Amino acid sequence: MKILVIGAGGREHALAWRIKQSPLVTQIFCAPGNAGIGQDVTNVALESHVDIVAFAKKEKIDLVVVGPEGPLVDGLADRLSENGIVVFGPSAKAAQLEGSKGFTKDICRKYNIPTAAYERFYEAGSALAYIKKQGAPIVVKADGLAAGKGVIVAMTEEEALAAIDTIFGGKFGAAGASVVIEEYMEGEEVSFFAFTDGKDAIEFGSAQDHKRVGDGDTGPNTGGMGTYTPAPIMTDAMRAKVMETIIRPTVSAMAAEGMPYKGVLFAGLMMTKSGPKLIEYNARFGDPETQSLMMRLESDLVPALLACAKGGLDKIDIRFKPEAVLCVVMAAKGYPETYEKGTVIRKLDEAATLPHVKIFHAGTAHKDGNIIAIGGRVLGVTAEGTTITEAQKNAYRAVDSIDWPQGFCRRDIGRRAVKK
Ligand code: AMP
Ligand code: GLY
Repeated sequence: MKILVIGAGGREHALAWRIKQSPLVTQIFCAPGNAGIGQDVTNVALESHVDIVAFAKKEKIDLVVVGPEGPLVDGLADRLSENGIVVFGPSAKAAQLEGSKGFTKDICRKYNIPTAAYERFYEAGSALAYIKKQGAPIVVKADGLAAGKGVIVAMTEEEALAAIDTIFGGKFGAAGASVVIEEYMEGEEVSFFAFTDGKDAIEFGSAQDHKRVGDGDTGPNTGGMGTYTPAPIMTDAMRAKVMETIIRPTVSAMAAEGMPYKGVLFAGLMMTKSGPKLIEYNARFGDPETQSLMMRLESDLVPALLACAKGGLDKIDIRFKPEAVLCVVMAAKGYPETYEKGTVIRKLDEAATLPHVKIFHAGTAHKDGNIIAIGGRVLGVTAEGTTITEAQKNAYRAVDSIDWPQGFCRRDIGRRAVKK
């Protein structure tokens, strides 16, 4: 089989690396990929959806795996399907589960899926009045995709009111044409993944991310600074409850609405005192959750991806190793705000030879014989161990052996799990 992975991040590196281990696969391409992905599979520069379809036809690609949400929301899976190409990833309509927070909240309300109480607003006046009535803490969300910056968890009424002005002021463009204002939930957060073919759903594992940039969960939100799997809070009973009350009802709802969801459903969950509740859906794998999950996965990923696209998920067996895996993200100093590009990263090869370690690349490129950083999140240093503590030790040993003065990472990834 020939597989094409779409994307350029650490998530896509982890997917391509794992797919490469499948005995079913003969050749793997990644478009556009990055320096690290190019060490494992073949990178190809494809600019548009038209280019991707043409390449998949010419190369007789058996499966396209779409990593990021952008191309899904823009209809890449639809274009591929229309051209008879098998694709892992939802249609544009189904990807609204990530593309529109209001859409997802309305699905939850209609089908009784546990989530924070909410209202939708299309202009500032009524939104401001609602906030004044509800008081703080309260959460304000731009409806559309806003690169992870469209959610304001307001601890004061002033912050919430300011968020309304920012969003309706046009900061997020079309993504801010409407807002969701919702109840503030308290609890531990979990990233929960399920595979679905539009009818059946099976669990694919869970992980815990560290969203804030600084140690001790301080500073601004990021795309994710580190993960570990398994999440100790996800007992067997809890996992069954999430499948029962959140995932399966969503899959049935999407089918009933005439937009069956196929692919991976990534549920961001809040484990509240009154049970697990949905914070939001993503229509893709998590980044950096995938780096940890792919290293821990024991069974072949490819049949599961194919089954999501073609059906037959009921016959798929997903198995993870008993070991724990932890991923530390190394980012360019200044991230998630402005940062320098083009700085040289050294000693990556030495770090990669350490036991139980795999270094996934995100924003990297080749220049003059060196690997340079070209993005905010740059490396996902991922390690396994018999316990989270051991995985943590292995990961930080590799981090400390990388020579990149312009990079940084959180030093406390996994701390909460270790304490438990
Ligand atoms: P999202 O982009 O929807 O994942 O939101 C980003 C982050 O905001 C989440 O990971 C949570 O930490 C936080 N958040 C979102 N919605 C809520 C909520 N209703 N209550 C508390 N925190 C929230
Ligand atoms: N790590 C969170 C996400 O992928 O959205």
